[in-house]
Amino acid sequence: MKLIDAKRDQYRKLAHEQGFRSRAAYKLKEMNKSYRIIGPGSYVVDLGCAPGGWVQVAQKISGNQGKVLGIDLSFVEEIPNAKIIQHDIESIDVVDEIISYFGKKADSLICDLSPQVSGNWSVDHAAQISLNYSAVRIMDQVLNKKGNALFKVFDGEYSAEFFDFMKKKFIKTKRTKPNASRKPSSELYCICLGYL
Ligand SMILES: C[S@@+](CC[C@H](N)C(=O)[O-])C[C@H]1O[C@@H](n2cnc3c(N)ncnc32)[C@H](O)[C@@H]1O
Repeated sequence: MKLIDAKRDQYRKLAHEQGFRSRAAYKLKEMNKSYRIIGPGSYVVDLGCAPGGWVQVAQKISGNQGKVLGIDLSFVEEIPNAKIIQHDIESIDVVDEIISYFGKKADSLICDLSPQVSGNWSVDHAAQISLNYSAVRIMDQVLNKKGNALFKVFDGEYSAEFFDFMKKKFIKTKRTKPNASRKPSSELYCICLGYL
């Protein structure tokens, strides 16, 4: 078995054993350990949350005092102590839904959005970056000053521009690739700390 396949299997097995709905859960766990995007008591919005691995992790970290709201186009099975809305993030009422659920702005926004992939990387990359800009428009209306964010980025032609754009909005940003992310996949993560 190739090393990459072994690693993929390792996280799939772990997710199954530990009751997480996706291997992606381990990426968030790892990045949160290093950068503390979410803390106990955080109000967290998760854009593109299906099947719900990140919601599960965010709920565990934010605890009883926190609140987690996940949004996805696809149906997501209920997750205890979290709220899920089946919605297109590009529709206009998403901001109202978030604010009315929290009763205030969010402390953290996490975003793992992926388009339906076509297999043509430049098309998929452009579509994913475009989803990220839609998520940023939401973020600008719902994130607390000093709040944190996390964005998945399909790496390609427009990613440097996206990272530069985010740099201006936060005290600190960092480009990272967690160990739980497969090496050949061209996904990166943009960690954003301290919304200005
Ligand atoms: C990689 S998955 C997210 C995995 C998730 N973080 C987890 O841990 O289970 C990406 C998601 O983005 C969602 N998505 C793509 N475009 C969307 C849109 N316009 N509105 C809402 N969700 C969208 C997809 O339906 C898909 O479920």
